[in-house]
Amino acid sequence: MNVESASLGVLILAAGKGIRMHSDKPKVLQLLLEEPIVYYPLKAASDAGIENIAILVGHRGDMVDAYIRKEWPGVQVIWQDEQLGTGHAVMVAEHWWERFEHVLVVSGDVPLVRSSTLADLVEKHLKLKPQCSFISFLMDDPSGYGRVVRLADGAVRIIEDKDAVEEELLIQEINSGVYLFETGALSAVIRKLGRNNAIGEYNLTDAITMIGETEGDVNIAICEDQSELLGVNTPNDLAATAEVLNRRIVSKHMLNGLKCMDPRSTWIGPRVELEPDVFIEPGAQIWGKSHVSCGARVGVYSTLRNVNIGEGSIVYGPSVVSDTQIGRDVEIGPFACMRGDAEITDRARVGRFVEIKHSVVGNDARVPHLSYIGDAAIGERTNIGAGTITCNYDGENKHRTSIGAGCFVGSDTMFVAPVSMGDDSSTAAGSIVTRDVPEGAIAIARARQINIDNWRARKGLNPKNAEKKDDEEN
Ligand code: UD1
Ligand code: CA
Repeated sequence: MNVESASLGVLILAAGKGIRMHSDKPKVLQLLLEEPIVYYPLKAASDAGIENIAILVGHRGDMVDAYIRKEWPGVQVIWQDEQLGTGHAVMVAEHWWERFEHVLVVSGDVPLVRSSTLADLVEKHLKLKPQCSFISFLMDDPSGYGRVVRLADGAVRIIEDKDAVEEELLIQEINSGVYLFETGALSAVIRKLGRNNAIGEYNLTDAITMIGETEGDVNIAICEDQSELLGVNTPNDLAATAEVLNRRIVSKHMLNGLKCMDPRSTWIGPRVELEPDVFIEPGAQIWGKSHVSCGARVGVYSTLRNVNIGEGSIVYGPSVVSDTQIGRDVEIGPFACMRGDAEITDRARVGRFVEIKHSVVGNDARVPHLSYIGDAAIGERTNIGAGTITCNYDGENKHRTSIGAGCFVGSDTMFVAPVSMGDDSSTAAGSIVTRDVPEGAIAIARARQINIDNWRARKGLNPKNAEKKDDEEN
């Protein structure tokens, strides 16, 4: 029997208060590489091939529930209204797990556990058929964790940090918070748990001790990689796990051909896809559901979120780009900002200090310097002069600007939207365009220049003094 065919459910414990995080947000929604902590055990369970997944929510459970509904619609939410401990959480969910032969219980705050480790645990458990299996690991500093006490007769106990006596505190083998139970054995003990311990809660760890004493065998799988089962309880743990996870992700991409100048300062989220031969400069961050194609380059200190980058395109850093589609051989930045459904198509150029929002920049078009393009479409080969702005917001509503193909927009043009320019039309520099510009025309919409002769003399300024004054001002 394997993971897919076993009668198996996974229960993720995510109802706890997470007091040590000092936050209004529930702990399992704290961000780890920009995904909620609980994303990781959910992903590991589903990657291991387990289809039946439920999650316990309680403290700020409405927020966790909303996240699950949106991102994990197949996962069942179970409420633990009062959070009386990990044992209580499993007790409350009995109506769900009793339908399976086995239930895998995973703490929602153990984000680094690999899907292969979960699958191995299940396979070994199905082969050896104990009543409970759990993962332990060795820690140089085990403080805070439950210690695994191996007794002389082969029996096993887990003793919590706060309940341990001095010699137990020295034990370095600790409980990971990942357990697999035969549901019959778990049912037999779960309602017998007591609260007679230092924190006065129903501890799931006591169920393991009880199964060993009365129901059968307990099998321990030791995980060799001690970083894999770090629990996240504090902001320090969050930073430490982020570092481990990031190192894992970056090195996985490098094995596939990523060229990364400085892996330690490069941050890549777990949902990012990189094709081989992407080049990343120091300090870059790539998050969300981003995809970077072959031969693309992500420049120094750039932040990308939900961005698709086509082959051979370059984002010069620093630039901040989110929710944007970038075609092939495009050049972006440095100091470009793009967001809100922007689309920059093949060979276009978006240069220095340009902001683009909810707009399409056509093939071979150029917006090289200092512009704001919002709610606009720019046609192929069009050149947008420096300082051009689409005035898209009238204080109440947003309006669109449409600029045709092959246009020449003079520097410092203001488009007061809604307004459009036909193909091959132009604007004179400094124009404020309030009416549509026909195809092939030029719009000149600025005050005509007047030169007043002898201005200084007329003002009674002697040219020599004027020069001196200029020097002082400079
Ligand atoms: C737990 C284990 C400890 C182990 C460690 C590994 C117990 C009693 N102790 O300790 O042996 O070494 O994990 O990381 O289980 N939760 C609920 N409902 C509750 C209480 C907690 O759903 O009423 C959830 C939390 O949200 C969390 C998980 O259970 O995701 C673990 O709870 P936590 O309080 O972090 O346990 P630890 O003290 O870390
Ligand atoms: Ca914990």
